[in-house]
Amino acid sequence: MEERKVQILIVDLGSQYTQIIRRSLRYLGFHSVIISPDKSLEWARANKPKSIILSGGTINISDSDAPEIPKGILDMGAPVLGICLGMQWLAYINDKDSIQAVPESKSYGPVEVTVDTRSKLFEGLEKINPHTFFFEVFSKRSKSIKKEGVGVNAWSSHGDSVKKAPSGFKAIATSKGGKVLEAMECAEKKLWAVQFHPEVEQTEDENIILNNFVSKICGCTQDYDKKDAIEEIRQNTKKILGGSTAIIGVSGGVDSTTLAAILAGALGEQLKAFMIDTGGMRKDEVLKVKEIAKKAGIKLEVIDKYKNKFIAEIGKTTDAEEKRAKFREVYGEVFKEVAKSYNATHMIQGTLATDLIESGNAGKSALIKTHHNVDLDLGLKEIMPLADFFKFEVREFAREFKLEELLSSRQPFPGPGLYLRIIGVPVTAELLEIVREADHEVAEILKKRGLYDKISQTIVALLGVNTVGVKGDGRVYGYSIIVRAVETVDFMTVKGFYLSPEICEEITGALVKHPQIVRVLYDWTSKPPATTEFE
Ligand code: XMP
Repeated sequence: MEERKVQILIVDLGSQYTQIIRRSLRYLGFHSVIISPDKSLEWARANKPKSIILSGGTINISDSDAPEIPKGILDMGAPVLGICLGMQWLAYINDKDSIQAVPESKSYGPVEVTVDTRSKLFEGLEKINPHTFFFEVFSKRSKSIKKEGVGVNAWSSHGDSVKKAPSGFKAIATSKGGKVLEAMECAEKKLWAVQFHPEVEQTEDENIILNNFVSKICGCTQDYDKKDAIEEIRQNTKKILGGSTAIIGVSGGVDSTTLAAILAGALGEQLKAFMIDTGGMRKDEVLKVKEIAKKAGIKLEVIDKYKNKFIAEIGKTTDAEEKRAKFREVYGEVFKEVAKSYNATHMIQGTLATDLIESGNAGKSALIKTHHNVDLDLGLKEIMPLADFFKFEVREFAREFKLEELLSSRQPFPGPGLYLRIIGVPVTAELLEIVREADHEVAEILKKRGLYDKISQTIVALLGVNTVGVKGDGRVYGYSIIVRAVETVDFMTVKGFYLSPEICEEITGALVKHPQIVRVLYDWTSKPPATTEFE
């Protein structure tokens, strides 16, 4: 494939949002490249970008470990947009006294910004919010001047801020009644800067700001199409792989399945797609994944000979964390054995930009949380072809392959699966079967009642404490099943999804038919204090 000429350079100053700038540009139809500050000048000289964006960063410009940004980047003739730390740097190099670190201008979260729509950067924002406000800008003599502007709900994340625009720059947006300078420009030097983050969804500008910058200010032309991206994923993966063989674990989820579909034809026998049946899957899950794989042209091998190993190892403990650790350990071992059997040297992962951002592995983003599928030390070289992409883009790829069933809102299910749904007693094959059937029964009833898609997640778990029940003519000791239904946006917090007494009765009636189940309990506790799962 022909090497494309990239028009937009993003200099990564370490923000967790850097990848999101790139994603937003793709959404607008522009290809871009992210380069670290130390390599950016060399790259810019060689490639002559039409547009340069300095990302935000997690440190303050006044810190001694602030990233060294080559000033030469400003002499390339291309307009520069500094975002957050990028803006502070532009202010700082023009006037060292322009930066302030005062608690009242720190801001982490939503901020109401008033923008001057006469600036090319903000042209068109009045269409989103027709209300005009007056905002104050700082004059040289510290007197404020009132200007007319348009209100935009924006997202900010900064400690330091720019207290006044350096000479030659003019203020084009402020917040907090004019107290915080939110944007400035020096059109003669082709410099623009914003303190808030136009790239994130929470800034309600419909991507107008980034689009204004790259199209109207820099004159870039649209050069990105999702078909290009699919071809690029194939070519890049082929290039990394050379003549070697790679494995890919397919779970039936959108990311891994779509990726396998993208690569299957291009890599042929060099790609070994497999699914490990851990024994903790939902009913008929393996069958469903097999069907989807067939449709997507993926030659999928289901490996189920390690089920007993999973059960034996995880069954050694009833401690939630130890169970997870055991699952991960066995999963890693099985993965290694499978790779060896295929003589594979590489492992292809469906890890997305968001996973990497959250685990702190994207650029120099600060660590937020460790993801279970990042940094698995398996002795294989990892390739992450989707590391630049976001969920909505992968969903678009899935549509290209007519894999709509991957996109229907299936409730999430944890990697360790039903192993986390047997509480208080060691996991056995028999208990897994009971909880698998119970999970299926509950899902079927909820689907029949039209509720399944309204619930974010249903957790059906077996409580391993024996209680007394009456079955037939005799008293029996049996297990309880807990049914938990929750609704949430992001699982950081959840609230109970209340089921009506009639539905509870139907579920209870269905579940107690099992000879070993004597009780059904319902749990609508919110998170916090509870978590979604029981373990
Ligand atoms: P919690 O219990 O933390 O769950 O509120 C939030 C969401 O994460 C899922 N979850 C997991 N997913 N491996 C996964 O792949 C895990 O170990 C795991 N633990 C929890 C859970 O099902 C819920 O959707």
